[in-house]
Amino acid sequence: MSIGVGIIGAGVMGADHARIIAGQVAGAHLVAISDADGARARGVAAETGAKRAVDDPLAVIRDPEVGAVLIASPDTTHADYTIACIEAGKPVLCEKPLAPTAAEGLRVVEAELSGGKRLVQLGFMRRFDPGYMEMKELLASGRYGEALAFHCIHRNATAPAHFDSAAAIVNSCVHEVDISRFVLAAELASVHVFRAKRSKLAHFDDPMLVVFETGKGQLVDVELFLNAQYGYDVKGELICETGTISFGPTLNTEIRSAGVTATSLAPDWRPRFAAAYRIQNQSWIDSISTGRPVGSSAWDGFIATTVTDAGVKSLKTGETVAIAYEKRPGLYG
Ligand SMILES: NC(=O)c1ccc[n+]([C@@H]2O[C@H](COP(=O)([O-])OP(=O)(O)OC[C@H]3O[C@@H](n4cnc5c(N)ncnc54)[C@H](O)[C@@H]3O)[C@@H](O)[C@H]2O)c1
Repeated sequence: MSIGVGIIGAGVMGADHARIIAGQVAGAHLVAISDADGARARGVAAETGAKRAVDDPLAVIRDPEVGAVLIASPDTTHADYTIACIEAGKPVLCEKPLAPTAAEGLRVVEAELSGGKRLVQLGFMRRFDPGYMEMKELLASGRYGEALAFHCIHRNATAPAHFDSAAAIVNSCVHEVDISRFVLAAELASVHVFRAKRSKLAHFDDPMLVVFETGKGQLVDVELFLNAQYGYDVKGELICETGTISFGPTLNTEIRSAGVTATSLAPDWRPRFAAAYRIQNQSWIDSISTGRPVGSSAWDGFIATTVTDAGVKSLKTGETVAIAYEKRPGLYG
């Protein structure tokens, strides 16, 4: 049986998800697409063969033909739309972050807990990226001893005009928060944000160095440089007791010519993480059929917002900030 999918938000990510669901995912078809900009929703619906474009995002959730909802509207809308999906009893894949703050994220966790059923998956697609998955498996094999530190690099060509220093942490660094918890199987216990000398081409503190300590005493450092100009570049290197594990940028071809070796870099995250988005979306659809949740949960999303709240506090105070939250038993194991 094919699951009817509704998409809220038809911008860069919503359109990309619509193309993936329509063309690369088995067991699903597009039913409805909504966006604050109706013309954009109609354009993506026409391109991807979705049955309808609708003006009211809540109508997507109520639509009887929609069995699952994908939310790709701005961060500030995630909590309310996700809660509406929970109340309608529909599985939802919500783009990261769960919410801009932990207080808002907690509302989603509470709603899911009171419904008594896991319905929320967060769009932390790096958990489905072959490079990170292999890194986690190699670490778990024990062949290289324990992980001691994790170097991460997160560079974008340019940041959107509406970004500020806090948004860099809440919206971008949140990826490294989730993936380091996933790869290391450890919780982040503290965070310290350092400002580097600011690039003349940046309109906020850029680059920054964000340093986490895990509950196991490991260090995770993230170079966050969102106006790096040259392209999109994500790297990770795990430092273990008897070796290191890293993945390269996503490269298909290498050119050697005129005394230079060259490989291309993606202009943004979509080509770099194309496999991750595809595997994530397929795994989400499969998990609805099997009833076995996969990927990041609402609880993972809440923890990520708690960590980024602490990061924003460190940015303001210049101090190391401890990360603390009350555990919620029940659905999340
Ligand atoms: N997983 C990833 O790698 C990744 C990458 C980029 C963005 N994102 C996330 O995806 C989400 C969308 O980002 P984007 O880059 O596509 O942004 P975007 O600005 O390109 O698209 C957002 C769309 O939402 C629409 N919109 C605004 N308010 C709305 C509302 N109340 N209801 C419905 N639609 C509304 C806008 O008109 C726009 O078309 C963000 O939450 C962002 O953090 C995730």
